[in-house]
Amino acid sequence: MEQILNDIRNSKARYLEELTRFLAIPSISSDPENKNDVLLCAEHVSKMLVQSGLTNIKVTPTAGHPVVSGEWLQAPGKPTLLIYGHYDVQPVDPLDLWEKPPFEAHIKNNRLVARGSADDKGQVFMHLKAIEAVMTSKGKLPVNVKFIIEGEEEIGSPNLAGFLRDHKAEFDADVVIISDSQMYAENLPAITYGLRGLTYLEIEVTGPNRDLHSGSFGGTVANPAEILARMLASVKDENGHIQIPGFYDDVKDVPAVERALLGSVPFDEVAYREGLGVKELWGEEGYSPNERTWIRPTFEINGIWGGFTGVGAKTVLPSKASAKISSRLVPDQDPTKIVELTTRYFQSIAPKSVTVKVTNHHGGKPVVAPLKTPYVEAARKAFKASFHTDALFIREGGSIPIVADFKEILGLDTLLIGFALPDNRAHSPNENFHLPTMYTGIETLVILLNSL
Ligand code: BES
Ligand code: MN
Ligand code: MN
Repeated sequence: MEQILNDIRNSKARYLEELTRFLAIPSISSDPENKNDVLLCAEHVSKMLVQSGLTNIKVTPTAGHPVVSGEWLQAPGKPTLLIYGHYDVQPVDPLDLWEKPPFEAHIKNNRLVARGSADDKGQVFMHLKAIEAVMTSKGKLPVNVKFIIEGEEEIGSPNLAGFLRDHKAEFDADVVIISDSQMYAENLPAITYGLRGLTYLEIEVTGPNRDLHSGSFGGTVANPAEILARMLASVKDENGHIQIPGFYDDVKDVPAVERALLGSVPFDEVAYREGLGVKELWGEEGYSPNERTWIRPTFEINGIWGGFTGVGAKTVLPSKASAKISSRLVPDQDPTKIVELTTRYFQSIAPKSVTVKVTNHHGGKPVVAPLKTPYVEAARKAFKASFHTDALFIREGGSIPIVADFKEILGLDTLLIGFALPDNRAHSPNENFHLPTMYTGIETLVILLNSL
């Protein structure tokens, strides 16, 4: 084991070079213009699997982007880990806020800066390097592993559940392991046992049949931008409670013991605020900041537009106004039901002066994973042995829709051990991955493999 860890410490330059090549492929899953890049990236991942010593490597086409899979199953009697990650990335706009081009990784303050560095290419890469390190030194693994690296996570994994159903037997395993979440802070690892779900909708409000002169018509015709603003503002009351009828009906109460445990996770409000550049935090009354993101559902406006937004001024009463809205969900809220309730709410409050169209994008179910499993225990020990500190048990506000499907389709619980830091700027300009954490994290994964 010591020798493997030494090999890892001696491979940092090579790791950096390899990860930089992986990050250079602009695998933006949401943009049709990048379809071929996503395919090239899938091929690249399949080569990385080969290099790690895995076998039976496949790039399986789907109705969208391909799924890359591989395995190593020569450890009879030992558990089988299904390691999942995604090679697709979020769009890069606004491009002008990047200090260097998003797909030309550079190092700043010990961080590798590039789109996908933290979410999730860097973390997928760590698993492959852990496997590679063990295979190179021992010629075999202490456990069986199967890999699924998909190309559609950032668009809601529309084809992965179907893929799992079609290949159910092939992906039979004992546990799913995912590194696509965060540590709690630098040198403060975390085991994430809960993720929120998601619904994502677009709402379009239409008034008059064309943009109107705001002088000739302003005052007689309802303004769709104003109506939309009023409708959106009505969703929450002054205490941050969501007013959509039925929205909270299925929200399961979090037991006091669990709230106490989550409450014992340290939280530095000043550092949090200053890191975000806000003078005051805001959120639902009666809940701490961590609770607001981990155990409570939300409603957010992701984007809002309509009418004249160009340079200068144009006096106009717009024909249309739109917004992209989403809710994060907690157990046992059902995304389909929340879509219905939200749609019905907007339809019901719309005045006769406008028509409202609501379209559904994608979503995912919330999950809470059990904590008393041998895999959680092994992860706890592996973190302790590598980071020399106790891992925290946390929940997270983000969503990984396929986690619920792993449970429903394959009957598997998921262990979430993430290595991104909270200020990794995922989905934002200058996304970054802390390199010292990556190197130590590869050691964590090697220790984990050896302790199952
Ligand atoms: N890796 C994130 C999810 C995540 C973020 C987990 C932070 C834990 C902490 C994932 O790539 C992601 O961004 N998911 C999307 C959902 C998807 C349906 C677009 C999200 O959470 O918005
Ligand atoms: Mn991710
Ligand atoms: Mn993401």
